[in-house]
Parts: sequence; structure tokens; C-alpha cells
Amino acid sequence: IDALLAEGVNGKRVFVRADLNVPLADGTITDDGRIRAVLPTVKALAEAGAKVVVASHLGRPKGAPDPAFSLLPAAERLGELLGAPVAFAQDTVGPAAHDAVDGLEPGQVAVIENLRFNAGETSKDDAERAEFAERLAALADVYVGDGFGAVHRKHASVYDLPAKLPHYAGYLIATEVGVLKKLTDDVKRPYAVVLGGAKVSDKLGVIDHLLEKADRILIGGGMAYTFLKAQGHEVGISLLQEDQIPAVKEYMERAEAKGVEFVLPVDVLVSPDFPDLKTKAPANPTTVAADAIPADQEGLDIGPETRKLYASKLADAATVFWNGPMGVFEHPDYAEGTKAVAQALLDTSAFTVVGGGDSAAAVRTLGFDENAFGHISTGGGASLEYLEGKTLPGLAALEN
Ligand code: 3PG
Repeated sequence: IDALLAEGVNGKRVFVRADLNVPLADGTITDDGRIRAVLPTVKALAEAGAKVVVASHLGRPKGAPDPAFSLLPAAERLGELLGAPVAFAQDTVGPAAHDAVDGLEPGQVAVIENLRFNAGETSKDDAERAEFAERLAALADVYVGDGFGAVHRKHASVYDLPAKLPHYAGYLIATEVGVLKKLTDDVKRPYAVVLGGAKVSDKLGVIDHLLEKADRILIGGGMAYTFLKAQGHEVGISLLQEDQIPAVKEYMERAEAKGVEFVLPVDVLVSPDFPDLKTKAPANPTTVAADAIPADQEGLDIGPETRKLYASKLADAATVFWNGPMGVFEHPDYAEGTKAVAQALLDTSAFTVVGGGDSAAAVRTLGFDENAFGHISTGGGASLEYLEGKTLPGLAALEN
């Protein structure tokens, strides 16, 4: 983007593909981290006199307008954060979008409606995506890719549109890629990785790749129960992906052969009931050893001994990557595990990266100072796929 600014953008229409896919509760944004993350790019372009057209997806609407997924709340928040009015177009490539863009003066910003209200955005058909990209291209003279959270998607606005316009990477993408490079090339050791979240299947690729890079891998969250089961323990009614057990076993064997330490919970908080996340009524969980989960109970967080164990495994690390909460952190009775990992990241002198929408939101909603961490990535799937060593369509398109 510095090259673009040096060339000059005054009066040019610049399309910024952001990731404003923020969590919403009853229409209210609960974490605006992704909007704040794109501000440097939007501000720099506006200050240089560009007519800035910001676009993003939000949620997973079905390729047609759906008010539940409108980008309007994100556009309003962007305006508040910029301290300047932001025009909002109620369609994506239709007359409203063209009116909004035509109405921009140099230095002003417009947001167009959710890109996924058009089936062409996410289509698997190259021609359909290209056609939608063509319609998006009509709104701008230049493309700036800055939606790091979506660079792993081969979508029209991420992958096809850059080919149709002069294209540049924004500040957020440059920062994110710079940080992730430190986790793949010349990593400072010991390198510890903490993985949590619900599903093992989402993490298999990254585990596979990290077995070649990391010194220790700590497992928590819903996915831990598939690991415990693979070790021969009963897990009651905890989340379990039976079909992943063979893969998990293989990874644990490979880790042992390579001297990579796999660390699993030694105790967990269990309850027969999933907590009520709306009322947050007390859940009164019980702490049990990880190899003694009762048949009628569900593991919902790591226990106190595991919190201590994980903190000790992170204390002397030089590099830490963390993706995924340790438990149902949205409920106070099951937030201690995730809090303990966040605190351990703050206590170590290691270079720490928090990857992923959920863990980033957890860190902020649990009251931690986000600036105290080495880096909080705006990309969940994107940062994992980067660490898997995959080619990310949105980055490849900007490099071409
Ligand atoms: C994310 O939340 O990880 C990104 O915004 C991508 O969203 P998606 O998984 O719906 O493509």
C-alpha cells in the first residue's frame, strides 16, 4: 500500500476488501477488533484523498440478501472509529452501490452491503465468480486486499477481483503475514503451540504441519476429548469425533517418535448439562481426573491441575502460538482454563501470537489488554491454513 500511496490516490476509487465479519448479538457488535484492524489502511487512503469503497462478508448468508447478515452495524462502527460519516449502500453491485460510490468526494468512505448477498461471491464456478468480480471492478480503479481473515477463501472479491484491477496489500495483511512468517521460518525455540476449540477435524492439517516445527503441543477445548479417547479413556458425553481417532493416534505416535511433546488435560470440569450462555446461571461443575469422566457428564473446561501444567509448559517457551479456547469460556464457570492460558501468554517472555476469531474474542471479552500480547491475529482459518503451509488464494492473488 505504501507503493500505492507514493503513486498517489487522490480522487481515485479504491476498493478495500476488508474482513468485517464481527460477532453480533441481537444486532450489536460484541467485538470490533476486526474493524479496528483495518483502520490504518482506510485512514491512510482517505487522508491521501482516495474515494474509499470498503467491502466485506459477514456470516454465511445463502447468496441472497438477508437482513440478519447486513453489514450496516459494521459500517456504523467504522464511521464511529474513523470519526467521520461513512456512506452505506444497501446493495453490493446494484444502483445503491453505484450511487454511494459516485457520491463520494476525495477522502470519503462508503461501505457496500455484504458481499455474500450475491451467489457469485462464494461460487465454486469460475465463470460465476468472474462475472461477479467484473461487477465489483466497475466500482473502483484500484484494489487493496486487507481482509486477512478471508484470504484462505477462493472467493470473487478475494481471489478474482485483484486480477481485474491494479492491486496492493493493505497494512493489516502485511502485518499478519510478517508475524506468521516468524512462526514458520527461523522459529525461536522452545516453540509451544496451544490448540483448543470444538473440533479436531479443523486442526488436523495444522497439527500435521506443526509436528515438523513445534517442540510441544498442548491440547484443550472440545477437541481434547477425542485425544483422551484415543488414549483409551472414557469421555462420558463430551464432544467426540470418533472418526478422527485413528488420525489422532497416528499424530501422537509421530510426535513421540520425533520427540515432540503432546500435552493433554490431566483434569477437567464436568457437568451433566451444557451451561445456559444467555442467563449465565451458575453451572456448578465438578472437577474430575481426565481419565475418570463419569458416563453421564460432559467435559466443559480444563481443570485447575491442567491450568498449572499448561502455564508451566508455556513459561520457558520462546515462541507461542495459541488457537482456540480451552472451554466454554462464554460462561464464567468455564472461563478459567482459557483465562489461565491467556495469563500464561502474558507471563512468559516468549513471542506470543493469538490466532483466530474465537481466541482473539475470548482474550478481549475476558478483559485482557490485547496490546500486551505479541500479536492477536484477525484470522482464524486463515492463520491456521497459513501455518499448514497452504497457498492462500487471497495472498497468491496479491502476489501475482
Ligand atoms: C472468519 O471468520 O474466519 C473469516 O471471516 C472467514 O469467514 P468464513 O469462515 O465464513 O469464510
